[in-house]
Amino acid sequence: MSGHRPLAVVIGMPGAGKTRVGREAAQMLNVDFADADIEIEQEVGMKIPRYFKKYGEPAFREVEADVIADLLESFDGLLALGGGAPMTESTRDALADYIAAGGKLVYLEADRHEAMERAARGGNRPMLNGDANKRWMKLYEERDPVFREISNLHVHTHGSTPRVAARKLSNMIQERIVHVTGSGIEPYDVCIGEGTLNRLPEVLGQDVLRVALIHTQPVQRHSDQARALLRQTGYEVYDMLIPDAEKGKTIDVAKTIWKRLGEIGFTRSDAIVGLGGGAATDLAGFIAATWMRGIRYVNCPTSLLAMVDASTGGKTGINTDEGKNLVGSFYTPAGVLADLRTLKTLPRDIFTEGLGEVTKSGFIRDTEILTSCRSMPRSSGTSTVTIFSVRRSRTWSPSSSSARSASRPTTFPMT
Ligand SMILES: NC(=O)c1ccc[n+]([C@@H]2O[C@H](COP(=O)([O-])OP(=O)(O)OC[C@H]3O[C@@H](n4cnc5c(N)ncnc54)[C@H](O)[C@@H]3O)[C@@H](O)[C@H]2O)c1
Repeated sequence: MSGHRPLAVVIGMPGAGKTRVGREAAQMLNVDFADADIEIEQEVGMKIPRYFKKYGEPAFREVEADVIADLLESFDGLLALGGGAPMTESTRDALADYIAAGGKLVYLEADRHEAMERAARGGNRPMLNGDANKRWMKLYEERDPVFREISNLHVHTHGSTPRVAARKLSNMIQERIVHVTGSGIEPYDVCIGEGTLNRLPEVLGQDVLRVALIHTQPVQRHSDQARALLRQTGYEVYDMLIPDAEKGKTIDVAKTIWKRLGEIGFTRSDAIVGLGGGAATDLAGFIAATWMRGIRYVNCPTSLLAMVDASTGGKTGINTDEGKNLVGSFYTPAGVLADLRTLKTLPRDIFTEGLGEVTKSGFIRDTEILTSCRSMPRSSGTSTVTIFSVRRSRTWSPSSSSARSASRPTTFPMT
């Protein structure tokens, strides 16, 4: 049976919903689901609480590590591990090997109180004997830093129904990640898939306090989602609505944002999020590059052109009256989240314009892209977009090419 490896491995605290959510996500992905605890019970021929009582925790952890090591080499579906499993060193080593071979280790993080109550309600958990809530909290303090460190994916299920949480998990498992490296740049990831916007808090990181969310009106629906998520995760969010398209890429707009950042007292521990088409991400990157000589920023492109080109190469800039992109700098984002769901609201003609860039990269660099274009259904599915995005970001860094001309700035509201 060797040569297989799980599609994904889910870890998390007791009560986080690893089994319930994992099983439902496996169904959505049409793959098998395995719960390591159930496999262990089958292996030892008794329920875990009984085994714990009879042989003690060290003996249980030994069996657990062996069963998980086997599953990591033989099971190819979605695997959920018991809450304490990653605390065993040999299991952590096996999980590190799994990740190194391209595996996805997902930390499923639920609201602490919800998970604690669920775990206590469920009963029959030997690690929670006694004052279950107190024990849970102590375990959380020990385990949470380890889970964060070893996992390479993170799913927050705060306030989600099991079905919504399962959808988030399955989306994240299906995601494509392109790791971008280059001389003189900080490496970053381009995450492509349905729901990658949910990764915003993770990419911004815990050191960031305040976020300026720069976006345009046509993508309001997506910026609403980003703002809600950021606020829910505890960031202070400042909404900065800029004029649409080229009207947003001007020095006047930049000046208004610099003024606002100054009034707020934006510092180097704050960050910019640029959400929208290429014009919005160019402007957001420019603000990030220039504010206090450069602060953290994350791009959330919502047009095809921005996904495959504008948001990924680190080129930021604004137009002047004399021409497009005349002022700017190279400044790499901390991450790029290309959420394919946002393309559903993108007008068709703008999507088609983006395809022009895609085919251009096919002619310049990789004819397989042209083959993909030819086989693309007329209704242009997002899976094809994924192929383009993945192939392009490592190999190609074209200059900007939109034919739309710069227009003079207008005044604009910022909320
Ligand atoms: N930095 C770079 O490397 C680079 C490369 C290529 C292009 N660019 C720049 O990118 C810009 C062109 O990007 P573009 O084609 O995305 O144009 P754009 O940013 O002007 O967006 C086009 C229109 O689509 C709207 N839109 C975007 N996403 C949407 C969504 N999901 N739903 C509904 N409406 C949506 C925008 O609000 C806008 O009205 C130009 O300014 C160009 O200079 C930069």
